[in-house]
Amino acid sequence: MKYGFFDDDNAEYVITTPKTPLPWINYLGTNDFFSLISNTCGGYSFYKDAKLLRLTRYRYNGVPADVNGKYFYIKDGDCVWNPGWQPTKTELDLYECRHGIGYSKFKGVMKNIEANVLSFVPIDDTCEISRITLTNNSSENKSIKLFSYVEWCLWNADDDMKNFQRNFSTGEVEVVGSDIYHKTEYRERRNHFAVYSVNAKIDGFDTSRDAFLGAYHDNHDPEVVCEKGQCTDSIAHGWSPVAVHQINVDLAPGETKSYVFVLGYCENPVEDKWESKGVINKKPAKEMLAKYRTDADVDKAFAKLCDYWKGLLSIYSVKSKNDKVNRMVNIWNQYQCMVTFNMSRSASYYESGIGRGMGFRDSNQDLLGFVHLIPERARERIIDIASTQFEDGSAYHQYQPLTKKGNSDIGSGFNDDPLWLIAGTSAYVRETGDLSILKEMVPYDNDMSVATTLMEHLKRSFDYIVNHKGPHDLPLIGRADWNDCLNLNCFSEHPGESFQTFGPSEGPVAESVFIAGMFVKYGEEYAQLCDETGDTAEAERVRGEVAKMYDAVLKDGWDGDWFVRAYDAYGKKIGSKECEEGKIFIESNGFCSLAGIGVKEGLAEKALDSVKEHLDCKYGVMILQPAYTVYHLELGEISSYPPGYKENAGIFCHNNPWVSIAETVIGRGDRAFEIYKKTCPAYTEEISEIHKTEPYVYCQMVAGADAYLPGEGKNSWLTGTAAWTFTNISQYILGVYPTHKGLQIDPCVPHDFGDFEITRKFRGATYNISVKNPSNVEKGVKSMTVNGKSVDGCIVPIEDGVKEYNVEVTLG
Ligand code: BGC
Ligand code: NOJ
Repeated sequence: MKYGFFDDDNAEYVITTPKTPLPWINYLGTNDFFSLISNTCGGYSFYKDAKLLRLTRYRYNGVPADVNGKYFYIKDGDCVWNPGWQPTKTELDLYECRHGIGYSKFKGVMKNIEANVLSFVPIDDTCEISRITLTNNSSENKSIKLFSYVEWCLWNADDDMKNFQRNFSTGEVEVVGSDIYHKTEYRERRNHFAVYSVNAKIDGFDTSRDAFLGAYHDNHDPEVVCEKGQCTDSIAHGWSPVAVHQINVDLAPGETKSYVFVLGYCENPVEDKWESKGVINKKPAKEMLAKYRTDADVDKAFAKLCDYWKGLLSIYSVKSKNDKVNRMVNIWNQYQCMVTFNMSRSASYYESGIGRGMGFRDSNQDLLGFVHLIPERARERIIDIASTQFEDGSAYHQYQPLTKKGNSDIGSGFNDDPLWLIAGTSAYVRETGDLSILKEMVPYDNDMSVATTLMEHLKRSFDYIVNHKGPHDLPLIGRADWNDCLNLNCFSEHPGESFQTFGPSEGPVAESVFIAGMFVKYGEEYAQLCDETGDTAEAERVRGEVAKMYDAVLKDGWDGDWFVRAYDAYGKKIGSKECEEGKIFIESNGFCSLAGIGVKEGLAEKALDSVKEHLDCKYGVMILQPAYTVYHLELGEISSYPPGYKENAGIFCHNNPWVSIAETVIGRGDRAFEIYKKTCPAYTEEISEIHKTEPYVYCQMVAGADAYLPGEGKNSWLTGTAAWTFTNISQYILGVYPTHKGLQIDPCVPHDFGDFEITRKFRGATYNISVKNPSNVEKGVKSMTVNGKSVDGCIVPIEDGVKEYNVEVTLG
């Protein structure tokens, strides 16, 4: 069952009922100011950091109830309604929400009044614009009242929902004309304030939540709107400050009026904070608001945003006979890659924005799907991430976006982390050819006095694994590897202890075959970087270490029909036939195979067949089987989840592409695509009532076969799935892979995929790639011509000065 449809021409998902199974959200903002916005106008806004600089409040643990947002109330006689249905939930004559790329549009029609809301964050400013357009479609004059509503967060979102004894006394506001300023804590150490403004004269305002809602009312029945019909012009002193504008609107038949609301974040230099004692210097706000006063201003800023995205999405685009692939590749998957790059795992409807900062592992992986979009920002990010590495090559697992400092509550000890830095850097250099990044001086633990080149950071990443091997010469796992819940050195017995940080950060025995796979894959990528910089001795050393690891995996990481997952702290196998539960895992099988381990020996094929046999289910490839049915002290969080959920036999959408990529490595395009389809939102749209999360983006986890509701998705938006699926479809299935020497075109498609065309902008040139598959093969380039000349192999050689490459590829 569907709750809407894709409008591909406008790059929008159109939601036709407000009653979606979960709030279906969108993200507004591209740089520093961000808003989450649901299909019923729920959500919240923040500047740079969802924890420390939160502008508006959201009540997280209500989901699926979507409580708090940026609301407009329309009072038409006794009827009070919202264009996005919530919070009054008045049944509308017509409802529509269009989530687009960086904007959302809402249409609500009630009693012949049509309200259209357009919300977006302009490229150049730290504000959100919401333009509401009201049209009288009746044949009579209408006098209605429009109320806006936002509830301020007292900046630090964590403190905001805990420290009530203080917070109920600190709130402060100023109101000047139609501009409502939020200045809690501005009197002391904050140099920033927020403003909510409208470009029209108002007929009243409120800034005290209690005055507007009324005691024992909620935002679904504000007393001012539903009963009094008139704002009280309240000035908040403590308690909960809000911003409400009232505009009385008269509309003749057929008449339309529009209002531009701006919610902005502003900063002042410390010495210039005040206009007069206790009065904010409003200069930055006035300058910003002046830019968005008319419809024409809004149209211009909106057009600029749309052009910006059009430009970004023209870097990789495909035309195939498969509409679902086209829309995911050309629009939604890349869009989600941008959002995950911006947010890491901080703020969604499932990540509260107060817990997790930027992840070392996560942000590096996010780069894989983002680097082609804005390489300069990827470059900065790589330097930021590497700056949190320790001198021995290990790394803080997370860092705060605002301070860019490592988070010591979690510390280090996740032994896959170092290798992801190689993955991210390699992707950047292959994309751009910019070897200069490798020479950048980058600190360790933010200490510039011990800085070395980025290349030296990569060496230390690599050597961290070389120097931390266990009894089988496989990498020690530490606190966990990619699977945060496989906590082999944790042994936690008390609720409330974090599985990730309890126990020692390192044990001398527990080993990860998954990290071994990563080492082989990213060791080779590091060696290639050494080739590019001419360090042949290091390249040779690295390849020697990689070969040793390859052998160690075949010797002790192979279980007969698949790859072992790990060895626990007692040296016992995990992910082996010897185990009662958790006999086979996805991670080691996907990653070792995609790294090429066992390909020539025929073992990768065997491992992937085993994955299909044991881990496949209707909705995707499960993380492990059989699920753990009891808590295992020696395994940690993985066995804390009920069977079928999360890391305990759920379908982790993130690592399904690893298996799909591995299938392309051995040339099985039909199977690679079958896996791609199962978790692909454009396909799961059809079962939205089961899947529940947004049909235009990936979610982190889909409940596996053992679960109560198999197929139910959770934790949408902020997941490494976005980057990995885009990598899979764009570089492996459609096969356009950036190498140091140029673009490689080596598709691995289902036999009946048909011919297709790709436009790819790469290193300053445009590649028009046409792939023909007359014999319906799954893989294999029979011939390739570039600008009419035949070329050996499948890498398009880069020629100086050539701006356009017309590439004809024939598979066979
Ligand atoms: C989740 C993991 C996540 C980890 C982060 C766990 O509870 O299951 O998916 O990576 O928390 O700390
Ligand atoms: C989500 C985390 O953000 C990611 O770092 C981790 O790899 C997966 N969960 C699997 O545990």
